[in-house]
Amino acid sequence: MGPLIQCRNIVKIHRGRGIDGAKRGFKAVDDVSFSIEKNGNFGLVGESGCGKTTLARAILYLDPPTSGKVLFDGVDLGSLRSRHLRAFRRRMQIVFQDPHSSLDPRMTIYDSLSEGLVNIGMDRAARTKKINRLLDLVGISGAMGSRFPHEFSTGQRQRIVIARALTMDPEFLVLDEPVSNLDVSIQAQVINLLLDIKEELSLTYLFISHDINLVAYMCDTVAVMYKGKIVEQEPTEELFANPRNEYTQTLLASIPGGAGRISGASTNIAKDGTMGNTASAVRELSKGHVVSNTTGRTGDKPDLTGGTR
Ligand SMILES: Nc1ncnc2c1ncn2[C@@H]1O[C@H](COP(=O)(O)OP(=O)(O)OP(=O)(O)O)[C@@H](O)[C@H]1O
Ligand SMILES: [Mg+2]
Repeated sequence: MGPLIQCRNIVKIHRGRGIDGAKRGFKAVDDVSFSIEKNGNFGLVGESGCGKTTLARAILYLDPPTSGKVLFDGVDLGSLRSRHLRAFRRRMQIVFQDPHSSLDPRMTIYDSLSEGLVNIGMDRAARTKKINRLLDLVGISGAMGSRFPHEFSTGQRQRIVIARALTMDPEFLVLDEPVSNLDVSIQAQVINLLLDIKEELSLTYLFISHDINLVAYMCDTVAVMYKGKIVEQEPTEELFANPRNEYTQTLLASIPGGAGRISGASTNIAKDGTMGNTASAVRELSKGHVVSNTTGRTGDKPDLTGGTR
């Protein structure tokens, strides 16, 4: 089908000043290249501070790369004037970790979802129809559109943020730690929702997490980032079966049950988002850092952990 996203030698230097006041550059992303196929589900995993969000923002040209190229559907984003870039940006959206700061507390859900549609001149009737359809898609009743963000739980808010990301009919979604702020019991629901939406709307995903187990569950390809560089990139099962890089090996070794032990057992995370046995299906290593004790959607992906429960 061909790549939707091609990153070529992306470098991003953050400019700042050291404690002595001297200008300093910090290379947060260092010569990163990869492609994401149309309809692909590409995982980016790495520890906090390794440059994942910086890379995502560079790919979307929210904060353009210092050097290197991003091709979206074959078009070099760096070659576009701002008006054209804006048109391209509608085709790609990002969902961040924190649904609290992603939604304006003074705006109703309906108004938040309307904003982009108003900008492109869609009339009220069409907007209402579209917003109701999107809220329905993420499991929020359209009747709740008149409410404000504080009236929703964190999980519901993240569903609303996902619906908002879909208002402009994007082809590409960057999901930057989309479930890290959610309760363990809600994480699987949102992950499964994202997988369902991807199928339904034929989307391409860049899924970012520091949890290799979540990435393995979600993604068909995994890139491992370490100190600004992609140190290894493989189809998910290959990465687990045969990790070559030392850092990847360390990440895999942190999974309960041992690294890369593909047993083929089914999972506790069911398609409807319920967990067979929540207490043992996932566990929290530290705040916001959750690993599943088993991974894989029921039946169609292997249990990568060796089934420790
Ligand atoms: N605007 C900025 N100016 C200066 N340095 C920055 C800026 N944004 C990020 N950094 C630094 O760049 C490095 C990479 O940060 P980034 O947020 O991309 O990491 P991350 O992998 O997304 O981490 P996390 O998992 O915690 O979200 C960090 O050392 C961070 O402190
Ligand atoms: Mg980040």
